[in-house]
Amino acid sequence: MGHKAETTKPTGGSKCWIPNIMLLCVLNINTWVVPVGGFALKTCRISYDIAICVKSNLSAVPLDIPSTVKGFDLSTNKISRIQRSDFDNLSQLENLVLNHNFISQVEIGAFSRLTKLNKLNLNNNKLFELGENLFKGLANLTELRVNGNRIKTVASTAFESLGNLKLLDISRNKLYHIKTVHLILQHLPRLRELFIRSNDLSTFNSWELTNSSMNLGYLDLSLNPITIFNITANVFPNLIWLKLGGSSKKHQMKWDVYNKTFLSRVSTLDISELQMAVGDMETLLRTVNSSLRSLRMNVMKHNLKELISISCTIPTMSTLQLRKNYKKINPVGPDTFKMCINVTELDLSENKIRNISDDAFKPLKHLRILTLGQNQLSSVPAAIRNLPKLEELSLHSNNIRGLACDDFANLTMLRKLSLYQNSISALNGCLFKDLTRLQVLKLQTNHISSLNNAFRDHLPNLRQLYLNTNKLTALKRGEFQGLQSLWNLSLHDNQIKDLEVGCFTGLRNLTEILLQNNRIYKKTLKKGVFEDLINLRRLDVRKNVIQYENNSPLSYPPFSHLSCLETLAIPAQHHREKSHLPCNFLQGLTNLLSFNMRNIQLISLPKDLFTFTPQLQTLDMSSNDIMDLSPELFSPIKNLKSLYISRTSLGSLDFLVDANLTQLEFLQARKNQYTVISKEIINSTPALAYLDLQGNSFTCGCDNADFIQWVKNSTHTQVFDAYNFVCNYPRDLKGMKLMDFDIRFCSVDVEFICFVSTTCSILLFMVASCTYHFLRWQLVYGYYLFLAFLFDTNHKHKKSQSQYDAFISYNVHDEPWVMEELLPKLEGEQGWRLCLHHRDFEPGKPIIDNITEAIYGSRKTICVVSHKYLESEWCSREIQVASFRLFDEKKDVLILVFLEEIPASLLSPYHRIRKLLKRKTYLSWPRACEHTELFWEKLHQALRTKEDFGQDQFLLTLVD
Ligand SMILES: *[C@@H]1O[C@H](CO)[C@@H](O)[C@H](O)[C@H]1NC(C)=O
Ligand SMILES: *[C@@H]1O[C@H](CO)[C@@H](O)[C@H](O)[C@H]1NC(C)=O
Ligand SMILES: *[C@@H]1O[C@H](CO)[C@@H](O)[C@H](O)[C@H]1NC(C)=O
Ligand SMILES: *[C@@H]1O[C@H](CO)[C@@H](O)[C@H](O)[C@H]1NC(C)=O
Repeated sequence: MGHKAETTKPTGGSKCWIPNIMLLCVLNINTWVVPVGGFALKTCRISYDIAICVKSNLSAVPLDIPSTVKGFDLSTNKISRIQRSDFDNLSQLENLVLNHNFISQVEIGAFSRLTKLNKLNLNNNKLFELGENLFKGLANLTELRVNGNRIKTVASTAFESLGNLKLLDISRNKLYHIKTVHLILQHLPRLRELFIRSNDLSTFNSWELTNSSMNLGYLDLSLNPITIFNITANVFPNLIWLKLGGSSKKHQMKWDVYNKTFLSRVSTLDISELQMAVGDMETLLRTVNSSLRSLRMNVMKHNLKELISISCTIPTMSTLQLRKNYKKINPVGPDTFKMCINVTELDLSENKIRNISDDAFKPLKHLRILTLGQNQLSSVPAAIRNLPKLEELSLHSNNIRGLACDDFANLTMLRKLSLYQNSISALNGCLFKDLTRLQVLKLQTNHISSLNNAFRDHLPNLRQLYLNTNKLTALKRGEFQGLQSLWNLSLHDNQIKDLEVGCFTGLRNLTEILLQNNRIYKKTLKKGVFEDLINLRRLDVRKNVIQYENNSPLSYPPFSHLSCLETLAIPAQHHREKSHLPCNFLQGLTNLLSFNMRNIQLISLPKDLFTFTPQLQTLDMSSNDIMDLSPELFSPIKNLKSLYISRTSLGSLDFLVDANLTQLEFLQARKNQYTVISKEIINSTPALAYLDLQGNSFTCGCDNADFIQWVKNSTHTQVFDAYNFVCNYPRDLKGMKLMDFDIRFCSVDVEFICFVSTTCSILLFMVASCTYHFLRWQLVYGYYLFLAFLFDTNHKHKKSQSQYDAFISYNVHDEPWVMEELLPKLEGEQGWRLCLHHRDFEPGKPIIDNITEAIYGSRKTICVVSHKYLESEWCSREIQVASFRLFDEKKDVLILVFLEEIPASLLSPYHRIRKLLKRKTYLSWPRACEHTELFWEKLHQALRTKEDFGQDQFLLTLVD
């Protein structure tokens, strides 16, 4: 700890003219000690004070977690042992999750510093015992879960310090004697919830557990082979929730609780799968007579109808759950529920019910909630017409094919109706006429192809309507006119192609509409379609077929009436071709906060796209073919907080430098071609808290020195997974971890170069100004010779044999022509070997190096010239390099193919092209017209020619 001075940041390379370089060197080497307090973690990430290390193949607890975290999630790893010091500096921890590991050993005192820990999850590990003082120090622990281990024994001191524990889940272990539970419970005076499901307990004698009354409110003893349940004193006066029963073994439990006051507060009783004599059952139910509210009798092996009748005599019982009883409940006859007049909630799911007698529910005068889901009903049972007080009805996952006008007649109190997952193919206008109070209607996952005015006049109080996953193809004018209270409308996963103007009329309160995965295309979004949705906040049209061919403005921007819209999602449109967005696509969306256009094959963005959305905070443009982002694009959206630009074709993050995104907190830019992150980029986003650059191929070089240093030292920005960043360049460092790159020498270099270059440049300046004055023309010539010399030395080895016949230089916009016309002709028919940048460039290498190598590695360079080509920065560099080679090797390597007619005036900055034009050594595609064969033949000849020309000609071309 005494090394504070050593961890100060080294001084930057700004001090030039310093004679004592040696002193700096000494300083630098001393100041580079392991960084302290950095934020980038080796395996985990931090999100809202929680360290997340889920599924990371860890075999030990990572030690680089900042001491400030409150949560630590280590689930699904391979940790087998918890060491004493593992959590030593995490004293702020409140929640620790170790679920799904291989932990079999925990060293004594491992948790002792975690005095603030509230919840500890050790589920699904391999603990076989809970040893002496295991949980020592966890004085504030309220929840402990050790579900799914192999615990057989528990030391008497294991739970000693857990005086505040309220919940213990020790289900799915191997406890076989209730005395073990006694060892646990004696230290837990505050315990409220105890789950011992699925152990090997064979008796339950309360005197073996305790002789004094406990605070326990919830007790789960199910799935234990208990043969006798005996309570001899009032040890559970506060128990309100009890679960018993369910054991694979074929034996009955004996009920030995004769004092009626012992369990007199139990209100929820679950005796699913309990095997017990009917007499004992009656005794059990008598014990809870007066307190019971909810009874679950699923998967019963008894005469269920008798048990229903007995339990329904308990006047307080209002909720009855009877799932998976199959033959024991079928058929549902008029007598089944005859005693159940007080039941208000009945759950009959998963019973394979086909028929329900019309009078079956007649006694259930007060029924409010009826669940008939997951049965085999083929129509809405007439029995429900006897339930005037019904508020919720569920008929989901049956075989209902059609609905009739009277099916829901008189259900005027109904608020919620579930009909999803049936085979309904059509609705009609009379169905919902009485459902004036209905708020939620679930009709998803049916075969509905026509709404037949079902929503035109009824359902004035409906808030949520689910029509997704049906077979709708069009929405007609006025279709939802009656739904004046609707908030949410789900129409996703249909085949909707046509939205008639006025189809959303009446939906003035709609805030969310989901239209994803339909067949919506450009023309569906016609004028006025959304004009009635004046309160809409969220619109999702992902996975449709919307595509625009160019950026030109639309005469009717589709969302211009949606001024309340906050979230617009259009990602993943299905189409093959590259696409664009009209520059006024977002017009009218003045309150838009989030825009998602991921994966729609965009190749560029109009500069003024966001001028209409000044509030934008989240922008996702990942998975597109965007090559350039102009900083101006971001100037209208100063509030941007989250930006996703993963999987694009961007070569660098340089646009950030001028984009002025001072509010940006989150940046995800995975799987791009970023090789260098400069200091300017880092400084351009001062608010950045989370940066994700996973899957880029970096350059291990001094250009990244600032980045490396910042990753290690920044206390504000977390760089996700930084310690796994791998370099792809230079070749000899390929595969090296970026964070392992030694940057000590970089800062020395900078000082040194600074010193030398300042001196040199002053001398040079003096010489140059003289030379320029007297020897101007010789200078220009010399300059080109110098460049030629440079390339020459770099590429000597390549000269001997060219890897390719031609390098094709073109702009992405012309990619279709190159891929569909040029490539099949030249590579397919004529058999030339071509070099294309997207195919043959080496990822991770600086682009200019890639270009130079491609040009020198090819005999010829074919430039596909169009307007867009001339605008592009990289393309003009490609021309430059090719012209240098022309000069350097005295070879005619350049072939120009004009895709469009380009006026000579536009070519004035490109004097080399102009010269070639004058010599008529170029080919024009538009002029080829129908004589394309001639065009290809000429190109073939041009590729075949030997390159040597006289030198004079080239001086003419270059020295203008
Ligand atoms: C335990 O929790 C309580 C309330 O949550 C808190 O006041 C107390 O300081 C905590 N004890 C320790 C040792 O952190
Ligand atoms: C409860 O009392 C009985 C008899 O008085 C005794 O045998 C038993 O050990 C006591 N149980 C506990 C947990 O102390
Ligand atoms: C519950 O008590 C009522 C009287 O309050 C009685 O009629 C009924 O039979 C009792 N039910 C059971 C299961 O003991
Ligand atoms: C609805 O209730 C009215 C009056 O109570 C009754 O006449 C009518 O038959 C009921 N409709 C159905 C379909 O049960």
